Amino acid sequence: MSVQTSISLQNPVDYGTPRRVSEKMVTLEIDGVEVSVPEGTSVMSASMDAGIKVPKLCATDSLEAFGSCRLCLVEIEGRKGYPASCTTTVAPGMKVRTQTPKLADLRRGVMELYISDHPLDCLTCSANGNCELQDMAGVVGLREVRYGYEGENHLKVEKDNSNPYFSFDPSKCIVCSRCVRACEEVQGTFALTIDGRGFASMVSPSENQPFMESECVSCGACVQACPTATLMEKSVIDMGQADHSVVTTCAYCGVGCSFRAEMKGAEVVRMIPNKEGKANRGHSCIKGRFAFGYATHPDRIKTPMIRGKISDPWREVSWDEAINYAASEFKRIQAKYGRGSIGGITSSRCTNEETYLVQKMVRAAFGNNNVDTCARVCHSPTGYGLKTTLGESAGTQDFDSVMKSDVMMVIGANPTDGHPVFASRMKRRLREGAKLIIVDPRTIDMVRTPHIEASYHLQLRPGTNVALINSLAYVIVTEGLVKDDFVAARCDVKEFAKWKAFITEARNSPEQMERTTGVPADQVRGAARLYATGGNGAIYYGLGVTEHSQGSTMVIGIANIAMATGNIGHEGVGVNPLRGQNNVQGSCDMGSFPHELPGYRHVSDDKTRAQFEKVWGVKLDSEPGLRIPNMFDASIDGSFKGLYVQGEDIAQSDPDTQHVTHALESLECMVVQDIFLNETAKFAHVFLPGSSFLEKNGTFTNAERRISRVRKVMPALAGKEDWEATIALSNALGYQMNYAHPSEIMDEIAALTPTFTGVSYDKIDELESIQWPCNEAAPEGTPTMHVKEFVRGKGRFVVTEYIPTEERTTGKYPLILTTGRILSQYNVGAQTRRTANNMWHDEDRLEIHPHDAEQRGIKDGDWVGVISRAGDTVMRAKIAERMQPGVVYTTFHFPGSGANVITADGSDWATNCPEYKVTAVQVSLVSQPSTWQKHFREFTETQLELLPQREASKA
Ligand code: SF4
Ligand code: SF4
Ligand code: SF4
Ligand code: FES
Repeated sequence: MSVQTSISLQNPVDYGTPRRVSEKMVTLEIDGVEVSVPEGTSVMSASMDAGIKVPKLCATDSLEAFGSCRLCLVEIEGRKGYPASCTTTVAPGMKVRTQTPKLADLRRGVMELYISDHPLDCLTCSANGNCELQDMAGVVGLREVRYGYEGENHLKVEKDNSNPYFSFDPSKCIVCSRCVRACEEVQGTFALTIDGRGFASMVSPSENQPFMESECVSCGACVQACPTATLMEKSVIDMGQADHSVVTTCAYCGVGCSFRAEMKGAEVVRMIPNKEGKANRGHSCIKGRFAFGYATHPDRIKTPMIRGKISDPWREVSWDEAINYAASEFKRIQAKYGRGSIGGITSSRCTNEETYLVQKMVRAAFGNNNVDTCARVCHSPTGYGLKTTLGESAGTQDFDSVMKSDVMMVIGANPTDGHPVFASRMKRRLREGAKLIIVDPRTIDMVRTPHIEASYHLQLRPGTNVALINSLAYVIVTEGLVKDDFVAARCDVKEFAKWKAFITEARNSPEQMERTTGVPADQVRGAARLYATGGNGAIYYGLGVTEHSQGSTMVIGIANIAMATGNIGHEGVGVNPLRGQNNVQGSCDMGSFPHELPGYRHVSDDKTRAQFEKVWGVKLDSEPGLRIPNMFDASIDGSFKGLYVQGEDIAQSDPDTQHVTHALESLECMVVQDIFLNETAKFAHVFLPGSSFLEKNGTFTNAERRISRVRKVMPALAGKEDWEATIALSNALGYQMNYAHPSEIMDEIAALTPTFTGVSYDKIDELESIQWPCNEAAPEGTPTMHVKEFVRGKGRFVVTEYIPTEERTTGKYPLILTTGRILSQYNVGAQTRRTANNMWHDEDRLEIHPHDAEQRGIKDGDWVGVISRAGDTVMRAKIAERMQPGVVYTTFHFPGSGANVITADGSDWATNCPEYKVTAVQVSLVSQPSTWQKHFREFTETQLELLPQREASKA
C-alpha cells in the first residue's frame, strides 16, 4: 500500500525528434559510443540514447524535424559538409562526431547571429533559468557577440498581450518555427504562419492579427514548444519560475489529460501537459492548461455552514457542528419518514475514491440504495447499451487506437469543443489520410477544418438517430457488407438472424427513412459502404447519441453495426463513448447507480451482496433505490426528505429546472458538498466546503477506462479533502469508516471489484496509468477490449425498432431545440466561468438559421424568447448556418440562460437519461427577461445576500 502524495519531477528528457518504433534496429557509432536504435531514428535522437546531447534550437521531440537553426550540425565519416543531426536519419555502420573544434566554431557562429538580434536582458527575462537559447549560448561557449545592435533588428517590435493567458514578445523570437509546427502538427489548428522572408520573417497569428482575433484556440502547444520567452505564460511572467512539479490529472473533460503542476510552494505557477501522459501525449486544451484559477477564486467557501430554512442566513460553524447537524437531521428524517426517505447524489467531477465512499455511505449508513450520479443524465444509456450487446459498460479502445483507424464515424459528438485533445489526435490521423463520417444535426467544426473535410456529413433531424443507424445497418446487410466469418465466430448467430430479418425490412432502407431523418439516401448508402469497407472503422459518439428517448437503443444500434462489420476487438476500430466530464466512467464503475454495486453488479444478486456485506460488516438492501428523477418526484410527493449532494449542481444541470427546484424546496434537509455556493447549494441547509482537484489525492477514470492519479499539490483550503468529509458524516451517522489515505479506499475497491483486482496506487505510479480490466488475466491493464471474445461471451445483436420521440413539433412549437457545449466553458460553468475563459464565451446564445430568423424578424444579437411545453427563457440570438432550418441550438454553461427551464421531462426508456437533445420550441422577439429569469435573479440576489451574514454569526 502506498501513501505517496506527490512525485517531484525534473523537466522530461527531450530527444529532439519524435521517437520511432521499428522492429529493425540500426547500429552506429557516435563519438566512439556504439548505439542501436530503431530504423528511422534521427542522429540527434540516437545521440541522446548514447548519452550525448547535441546542441539544438529548432528541434524538439514533439515535432517532426525542420532543420532550420543549424546548431545541431555534426560530422559523419565519408559524408561531405556538416549535416544537421535532427534531419539526418541513422544508417548501419555510420560513424558520427558531435564534438570537434570545427563544429564548435560553426555553432558559436550560429549562436552569435541569434544573440545579435536578441535582447540581452536575461537576468530580468521571465524565461531566465528555463530558456533553451540561454542554455545553448552556454553549451556552445559563446563569449562575445561581434555584431552590435546598430543595424536592423527586431528589438522594438511590439508585444501582443491580447491573450489573457500568454504573451507574445516578437523581439525575443528566433524564428525557429516550433510554434508554427506545434499549431499544425500537435493541435491541428494552423493558426500561425511565418510571415515575410529572410530577415523580415516574423511569426504571425492568422492574417497578422492579435492572438485573440486569430483562429487560435489557446491550447498552449505553441507556448510549450517555444524555446525562448517569446511565447510565455503570463502566470510565469508574474510569479517567476516554479520550484517543483507534481504530476496530476486534469479535472475537466473525459480525455483525462496528465499534467505537471509546476508549483512555487503551494501556488500553481503553470500546468504543463505531461509528455508521459498516455491519454494526452503531451498535449492540452485551454481548460486544463490555463483555466485552473477557479481553484483559488475568492468565491470559494472554506468554512462549513448551516441554516434551518433556505430563507435563513447562513451560520458559519465548525466541521464537527456541521457534520453532527447533518447526521442528526438525516436520522430525524429517517425516524419520521422511514429508511428510504433520504439519499445521495455523487458526481462525475469527484474522484473514484470519493464516489465509492458516497455510495458506500448511502448503502451502509443510510441503509438503502438511494444513490445516483450525474452520469444518469449523460451516459447511462452507454452503460445499458454496451453491456447488453458486448457485455461491458465501457468503451472498447484506448485513444492511441485512433492512429490505426482508416475510417472514423463521429456521431452526436463535437470533439474539437468537448474533447479537444483527442480531437487533435483524430485530426492528425485524418491528415494522414483516414476518412471521416460525421453524423450530427449541426455543422460542427470537424466537418470542414484546415486540411480536413468529412467524406460525409449526415445532417439528420434531431431525434432520428435510431432511424439513421437502422438505415446504415440496412445497407451493410443488404449490400453483402457483413463480415460473415466474424459474426459466425464471435456473435450469437441466432440473435444475429433475428436482427438481420428485422433490419432488412424495406421500411429500414435509406430511401424510406429519408423522410424521417432528412438525410439523402445516397449519402447514407455511401457512408455505410465507407464504414464497412474502408479498412479499420472506429465509431466515436457523445451525448448526441445518449440524451434521447431512444438513447440506449441508439447505443445498441452502434454496437450492432460494429459487430456486423467486424470492427471490434483490435486496434483502430471499436465503439467509443466520448465521456463528458472527467470521471463519468469512474463514477459509473464505482457503483453510483441505485441498482448496481461497484463493477456493475446488480444489488439483487445475493452472492455479490454477500461479498460486500462481509467486508462492510452490514446487511445490504436487495431492492434497487431511487434514481435522480424518482428522488425529485418523491420529494414533491412528500416521501423523500433528505439529500446529500457531493460535487453536482442538479439545480442547473438537470432538465425541467422548475420541477427540480420545486423538489429541492420540498426537502427538509439538503447537504451540499461543493467548492462554490452553486445553484443547488442555494437550496441547501448544510454546506460542507469541498476541495478542488489540486487539494486532494485520488484517481479519475477517463473515457478509455484509464485510471490516473490525482495528486495533492496544495493543502485543502477548507481543511478537509472530500473523502474525509464523507467519512466524518458516515461516522456521525453511526457507520464507522476508517481510512488513512485514498490508496486504502482503492485497495478496498480492488478487493471487491473483479475488473480492478490488480489496481493499486503503487501499480499506477509504476505504469503512469492503468486501463481496467486490470487483474490476473491482464496485470498491466487492457487497452483494447473484446479481443478474442466478447466480455459476455458471444456478441449479441439486438433489434432496434425506431420509435419517434413524443416530443413533436407542432404549429405552436415549430422548431427543435438541441444543446451542446463550447470549448472554453465546461459543463455548468461553475469552474470556467470563474476564469478568463469568459473572454471567449461570456453568455449562452441561441443559434438560429437565417431562414428561421428572417421569418421571425430576428437579427443577430436580438433578445429572443424561447418557449417550450416545460417553460420559457430569454437569450440573445446568433444567426448561424451551422443549424439546418427548423433546428435551433444553444449551450448551457450559464445558469441565468435557463437552458434547462425549457428542456422537458422526456427520457430514455431504459435508463431515464433525459432527452436534452430534442425539445420542441417557438422562438420570438422579446424585450424583457422571462418570468423564470426574473425569479431566478431575485432568488440568486437573496441567497447571495444571506451569504455575507455568515461572518456576523460567529460573533
Ligand atoms: S495556442 Fe494553440 S491554437 Fe493558439 S496558436 Fe498556439 S498552438 Fe495554435
Ligand atoms: S515564437 Fe518561439 S517557437 Fe515561435 S518561432 Fe519564435 S522562438 Fe520559435
Ligand atoms: S482535453 Fe479535457 S482533460 Fe485534456 S486538458 Fe482539455 S479539458 Fe482537460
Ligand atoms: S536543431 Fe537541427 S537544425 Fe535546428
